[in-house]
Amino acid sequence: MASVAEVAYNSAFHSQIQSHPMARSNRSKSSARWLDEHVNDPYVKQAQIDGYRSRASYKLLAINDKDKLIRPGMLVMDLGSAPGGWSQVASRLVAPKGRVIASDILPMDAMADVEFIQGDFTEQEVFERIMAAVDGAPVDVVISDMAPNLSGIASADQAASIYLVELALDMACQVLKPKGSFVAKVFQGEGYEAFVRQVREHFDSLVVRKPQASRARSREVYLVGKGFKG
Ligand SMILES: C[S@@+](CC[C@H](N)C(=O)[O-])C[C@H]1O[C@@H](n2cnc3c(N)ncnc32)[C@H](O)[C@@H]1O
Repeated sequence: MASVAEVAYNSAFHSQIQSHPMARSNRSKSSARWLDEHVNDPYVKQAQIDGYRSRASYKLLAINDKDKLIRPGMLVMDLGSAPGGWSQVASRLVAPKGRVIASDILPMDAMADVEFIQGDFTEQEVFERIMAAVDGAPVDVVISDMAPNLSGIASADQAASIYLVELALDMACQVLKPKGSFVAKVFQGEGYEAFVRQVREHFDSLVVRKPQASRARSREVYLVGKGFKG
């Protein structure tokens, strides 16, 4: 498994992919489709009514309804947290005494009871700042909704997303308390089955969830590992 310390992020390679002409034309088509879907999406409308920052909130709510992961008083780590839909859900669920530590490469507006660390999760320095925020406290649940910026080149996007989720699992293994839980978005494709096997090694049970708010045509699923073996 890749560890944050061991793997150097190749950002030059990533920017080459982003500027590839094939990536640019695919991206403009998918941006138009995304905008069209977004305007008509019932979860987007519901998020506006409920005061959630993103439609993603409904994915975590659905997972938590089924798997009963986040409870009052817990410490939750939210990776890939911006704009903050999952952090909102988590901070409400852990209230009044719980805590959320959130991190994203993008900025995120402040939220009560959420400590936010901005930076690229693939960088060792960011990993260390998150660890400093945890300060040795046993984490109950690590949730990761991280997804890389899509280049439109499927194999590169898949590799980048597996890389991020492997780093999230590595973090979970370092901070979770025994019997803690892990939720991570993963895209089905190259490397998916191997990643599922890695999660199984570390948790007593593993289920794969596809919440209703996750678009049917998206290859994203959520792995839920329960009972961290420590
Ligand atoms: C689907 S969004 C998360 C939505 C969020 N869970 C919510 O409920 O609002 C995926 C996030 O992963 C973040 N991300 C992608 N690559 C990252 C990286 N290298 N380090 C940290 N965050 C990253 C993106 O900036 C983006 O905010």
